[in-house]
Amino acid sequence: MLDFLGDLRRTHMCGALRASDSGKKAVLMGWVNRRRDLGNLIFVDLRDRSGVTQVVFNEERDAAIHEKASGLRNEYVIAVTGRVKQRDPNTVNKNIPTGEVELVAEEIRLLNESKQPPFLPGDTALTNEETRLKYRYIDLRRDVMQFNIEMRHKVALAIRNYLAGQGFFEIETPFMTRSTPEGARDYLVPSRVQPGTFYALPQSPQLFKQILMISGFDKYFQIVRCFRDEDLRADRQPEFTQIDLEMSYPQPERVWEVVEGFLAAAFKAAGHDIKVPFPRMDYDEAIRLYGIDKPDLRLPAFADVRDCFTAENLQELAINPNLPVIAIRTPRVGELSRKERDDIKPMFHAKGEAKLFEDFKRVGNKFPAAAAEIAKKAGMDESDLVVLVSGSALAGPQTALPAHRKVTPQELAIYASAGLLRLALAQKYADRHGIFAKTGDPGKDFRFVWVTNFPMFEWDEADKRWNAAHHPFTSPHEEDMPKLETGVELVSDPQSALSAVRALAYDVVLNGTELGSGSIRIHRQDVQRRIFRALGMTEEEARSRFGFFLEALEYGTPPHGGIALGLDRIVMILAGAESLREVIPFPKTARAVDLMVDAPTPVGERQLRELGIVVKK
Ligand code: AMO
Repeated sequence: MLDFLGDLRRTHMCGALRASDSGKKAVLMGWVNRRRDLGNLIFVDLRDRSGVTQVVFNEERDAAIHEKASGLRNEYVIAVTGRVKQRDPNTVNKNIPTGEVELVAEEIRLLNESKQPPFLPGDTALTNEETRLKYRYIDLRRDVMQFNIEMRHKVALAIRNYLAGQGFFEIETPFMTRSTPEGARDYLVPSRVQPGTFYALPQSPQLFKQILMISGFDKYFQIVRCFRDEDLRADRQPEFTQIDLEMSYPQPERVWEVVEGFLAAAFKAAGHDIKVPFPRMDYDEAIRLYGIDKPDLRLPAFADVRDCFTAENLQELAINPNLPVIAIRTPRVGELSRKERDDIKPMFHAKGEAKLFEDFKRVGNKFPAAAAEIAKKAGMDESDLVVLVSGSALAGPQTALPAHRKVTPQELAIYASAGLLRLALAQKYADRHGIFAKTGDPGKDFRFVWVTNFPMFEWDEADKRWNAAHHPFTSPHEEDMPKLETGVELVSDPQSALSAVRALAYDVVLNGTELGSGSIRIHRQDVQRRIFRALGMTEEEARSRFGFFLEALEYGTPPHGGIALGLDRIVMILAGAESLREVIPFPKTARAVDLMVDAPTPVGERQLRELGIVVKK
């Protein structure tokens, strides 16, 4: 028989009681975490989000409530009134903060029963993720999930407070809107009132926040849900949360300062002090040193060891002398077995003519002088693993490239293949070098970096045209504006001067994860028109996609810029979690399914008819 809560009031949370509370009366409410029946004594660990308290039911004291306690099962919800008692020294539980006390029950109310759950919040071994997601409400009762969701709350609150303190207004923007320019697929919402028309859920509030600058709000932010129909990975969800901001009249440095400020506040809220300002790195430099635009600075950078070989060496090794020879050093891997060395080869995915010398040792046996130089240049220690990536001599001479290009496509192929191998090796030998193992520790190694001066355009080989690397409202570097004029004559040429136009765009990267991305925007009509032209977009096309926005730009738009960071990713890193699903209360699977509510689902004929939609089977 269930009891009513009545006017019983909770006096303490289950994690609150201490030895100093001994003798006090307390009313606790929560779930039965565990029940141990020792005959005349029954112990119940009572749990809520704050922790666990041991409750004792003593048959000799009160047979009726002892009887009632004997009917308790896992996850039943109870209210217990009792007296706090200090435990005997030999029964103190040092593993929990309430371990010095117990509550001696005087009254119990059974508020609800529970079916036997498919798994228990206190289980040490995790059940499979599908079951966890289907019974998410049970999964969320686990202390790790409670910790993660609490941290998410604290981080968001710290950011909100920081930005409000800096004069930013939190302003909501619509969810039912038009396609935005972020480049993923849209989630569409059909209109009943105007059949055959659709709203798009925003991939970001990009255009609205720019319009808020045109509207005079000066500093805007929003902790906002965004929706993107894209291939999902551990760090991507179809709906995710951005910390989105925009400000008027900033240089990039001003935006960075704001981001550094709120990240410092957020990390502080999670118990970490971080150092600001963050180091800055040009996109080209990131590619040359790490082979990727989101470098993980915890690992060593590349060394170009081309000069360590003689011309004859290079010829004998069939290495292209005009291209870099990259030494990838992975620290503290130790001696590799024959098999381990062989296993490196399949980890290498050559782009272009990049080729791998997995066996630095063999190179060393044949060319000891070169090997000694390489070891020195790469800062190699006895126990470090070094592999080399170079261009194949078979690639022939390099294509002539305009002088303004800093990294040629062939070089890029080598850097990028080496960059991926660098990460794969670091991941594979993480247990040995221990550089990543710190994740989850209080003294975590957080290596932030701003990557700046991205290229404005990306060549799309399939469509033979230039695409905006960030989005088409990103401002080019002021110095590079003239290249737009020369480049625009050659919109269908990958060698055109457009390849050298840098954007006033920046990413903030943490330990190899892109946390956020932003830019100074175009505020002038003439520049915007030139960009559309470079993207091969006619005036009509631009008008039909972004007409309302282009019109708004014509009414006194101040210079402005901003950024958006992924809140989920920040919390994931702080929680030391492997996937965003661990820090989002109700996430979707890799197939974009919500297993708990079972969405998406088909809808009825009538609803479809009202929407003017026919579903093809
Ligand atoms: P961008 O598309 O780079 O920029 O997104 C900014 C940040 O949002 C996070 N993010 C995601 N997180 C989880 N799942 C996803 N599917 C996902 N997609 C993006 C990332 C990313 O760095 N409007 C621009 C910002 C601007 O220019 O101000 C934008 O949305 O952490």
